[in-house]
Amino acid sequence: MSEASRKESLSVRDNRTGHEIEVAIQNGTVPAMDFRQLKDGSDDFGLMVYDPAFTNTAAGKSTISFIDGGKGILRYRGYPIEEVAEKFDFLTVAYLLLHGELPTSAQEAEFKEVVLQEMCNVPEHLSAVLEGMPRDGHPMAKMMALISALGTYNPESRAVRDPDVRKRHTLRLIGQLPVLAAWVYRHGKGLPLQAPNPFMGYEENFAAMVFGSGRNHPVNPVVVNALRVAFILHAEHEFNAGTTTMRVAASAETDPYSSVAAATATLAGPLHGGANEAVLRMLSEIGSVEHAGAFMEAVKRREKKLMGFGHRVYKAMDPRCAYLRQMADEVFQGLGKENPKLGLALEIQKIALEDEYFVSRNLYPNVDWLSGLIYSVLGFPVEYFTVLFLVPRVTGWLAHYDEVLGDPEQKIARPRQVYLGEGERHV
Ligand code: SDX
Repeated sequence: MSEASRKESLSVRDNRTGHEIEVAIQNGTVPAMDFRQLKDGSDDFGLMVYDPAFTNTAAGKSTISFIDGGKGILRYRGYPIEEVAEKFDFLTVAYLLLHGELPTSAQEAEFKEVVLQEMCNVPEHLSAVLEGMPRDGHPMAKMMALISALGTYNPESRAVRDPDVRKRHTLRLIGQLPVLAAWVYRHGKGLPLQAPNPFMGYEENFAAMVFGSGRNHPVNPVVVNALRVAFILHAEHEFNAGTTTMRVAASAETDPYSSVAAATATLAGPLHGGANEAVLRMLSEIGSVEHAGAFMEAVKRREKKLMGFGHRVYKAMDPRCAYLRQMADEVFQGLGKENPKLGLALEIQKIALEDEYFVSRNLYPNVDWLSGLIYSVLGFPVEYFTVLFLVPRVTGWLAHYDEVLGDPEQKIARPRQVYLGEGERHV
């Protein structure tokens, strides 16, 4: 078609009535509300678009991260994830996600100082919440309870329309989440809780609070660097299920603590952040390389799901998985121990990448495929893996939270339904 005759619009004809409308195309989308003009009679509500899992629905505009699922690209505020993971520590990346630009050295110093101050200011009685829960309770359920309880110490945060209040509680949540996460680890092991060390960095503090035996417990730099990379890779991923939960809660003007607790619930699901735990359990169930083929046949018969594979957006290798593969070798060599399940995982991956069933469905490894293999070598129990996803993802959620509350086009999220139930009837 010639450039002159090209129009950035759809011409839509309703064949029920002959009514035609022109729908403008913007940013690769069309406004769903335009279709409400197409009515089949004067009392008709008008057409809606039907998209039960939002598989083809853009629920908002964002500038935080970008994914090209076909090419396996992920960028944070325009920077490729590989560069960001290579060059920075987590709090520098957190600043980038929240502010849109990399910090100057002065901005970085101030940001880190406030976050680490917050880390050292967790309400002392908050840990009593844990004492009401069983030691073997799931760590993500414990996190939801602690995060929600932390909100009760921060009633000011309900003034969600005040940017200064949002900023203050954003830094508090980023600073205090690792402390709660370390508490949950220690509670599960029946160990005394460790206090943060104001002179340690963010990732090192977390590792020391988890594994340490005292405020100055030296932490293996291999562990610290592994956490740095894992935290950066898991920090943000546009409108995934957990982030959508956070955005919906923000649209209702829910406070940030309750919103994070809600998003934590969604992230806990085995199809989402809970997949890293599910992968290790699946590999344990398969047992050995000899059984890999039989398991994959069971997947093809739809008797099993290949956890850690597939993605709604990536139709190529998840770039985070590729990075984690490289990091796994560094961690195993650095710690002088390998995960015995790595060989089985690589055999499963080899079969999947060569088998038409998986290739034709674009089933590639996602971020959860290898992360658990690394976490278990670092010393974390399987049921704790998703907490390691949660700690950094809170930063991405808070960037989206701020974006929704600052977006004039956003209002309370409230989808419609297709009603197929009973018509009016009387008792
Ligand atoms: C995360 O969204 C994000 O960005 C999430 C995340 C983030 O950073 O926030 O990237 C983190 O959640 C990663 C995904 C972790 N989940 C898992 O690893 C669980 C296993 N994966 C699947 O459950 C699944 O792939 C999903 C949930 C991830 C995506 O599912 P979709 O997009 O709804 O795909 P689908 O169910 O429509 O599947 C398409 C086809 C189907 O086959 P057919 O019916 O067409 O024959 O692929 C099959 C599915 O049966 N399929 C799988 C499969 N995933 C899809 N078959 C076997 N094993 C799988 N894992």
